[in-house]
Amino acid sequence: MVLSGLKLDYDWKRHDKPGIIVADIAGGVGTVLNLILQSMPNARGILFDQPSVIAQAKESPLWGPNVTDRVSYVGGDMFKSVPEADLYILRWIIHDWDDERSIQILKVLSIGCLCECLLHKTIRASMKPTSRLLILEEPLPDEGNPMPTSAIISPSFMDILMMLVASGKHRTMAQYNELFQASDLKLQRIDYVRPSMGILEIVPSS
Ligand SMILES: C[S@@+](CC[C@H](N)C(=O)[O-])C[C@H]1O[C@@H](n2cnc3c(N)ncnc32)[C@H](O)[C@@H]1O
Repeated sequence: MVLSGLKLDYDWKRHDKPGIIVADIAGGVGTVLNLILQSMPNARGILFDQPSVIAQAKESPLWGPNVTDRVSYVGGDMFKSVPEADLYILRWIIHDWDDERSIQILKVLSIGCLCECLLHKTIRASMKPTSRLLILEEPLPDEGNPMPTSAIISPSFMDILMMLVASGKHRTMAQYNELFQASDLKLQRIDYVRPSMGILEIVPSS
């Protein structure tokens, strides 16, 4: 259900303009990018992850019909540089990291490392005014604003789990909005897909 909800409940066609480039940042071996490219026949995809993971993805490709020829692979470090794209995907990434590292993923590195800024292009720096970022996570309910979908695993349990295994956390929408504001980004809309995934559509705020 985790992947079928993502395929069946979200309108991927809305983004499927001719020539659009979709980059799945820290996309693992490509499970989600494969699903997205099957739903967006006009798109080309970039699978971006650590070089060792990209080597593994190349060794055992899982692409469905009519997807293989539309995929390119880029190995790298998302804290330093990401490829240019029209649509960025971050699934189950931000919940792995604390606020400081999450903001670092989202924006150009801070003034404290100016020389690195000149070399590195993080997501916000790589985004064109028309680019979109989709963050796929399970937001925690804000007070008085319950989730519209029913989670298989309690989001609060996931929050504790992320803290223990990855020094990350699950966040409420208010907490996500703080990250976006600090990264010169803003939330444009949220869609929910079964069983409990929020798809947060983010745009540059300036
Ligand atoms: C929880 S997995 C999520 C994978 C994929 N997004 C998905 O939804 O199936 C986290 C991924 O982050 C990648 N990752 C961790 N640190 C990274 C870095 N500095 N640069 C690029 N990818 C990184 C890992 O290799 C791993 O594939």
